[in-house]
Amino acid sequence: MVTSSGISLLIVINPLMPTSVPVCHYLGPERIVEPVRAKFNKNIHLEAIPEMTCDNPKCNQSFHHACLYEYIRMLPDVRSSFNKLFGECPYCCKPLWCTVL
Ligand SMILES: *[C@@H]1O[C@H](CO)[C@@H](O)[C@H](O)[C@H]1NC(C)=O
Repeated sequence: MVTSSGISLLIVINPLMPTSVPVCHYLGPERIVEPVRAKFNKNIHLEAIPEMTCDNPKCNQSFHHACLYEYIRMLPDVRSSFNKLFGECPYCCKPLWCTVL
């Protein structure tokens, strides 16, 4: 997407979690990009910030708890113990868990 002020916006939507907040990269001179980024971030609710992170140091991918829970819940080999679901990271396939919502 190219905006009128000469900024390009690269929007990355995760096909595994299409309803999660997309990752946005602003491309352009920082003095033009900065106010647009600030305005956009202000419009995103605080709960939209991903709060879970894959522990694999080669991955570090962040997730919204609700998205990760939905993903793990649908895995064919999901395991649960007490209030935790155990599955694997959608990116690196390393073991990952989240609490049941
Ligand atoms: C993941 O995070 C660790 C610790 O902050 C860091 O050392 C590592 O380089 C990161 N890996 C990637 C792929 O970003």
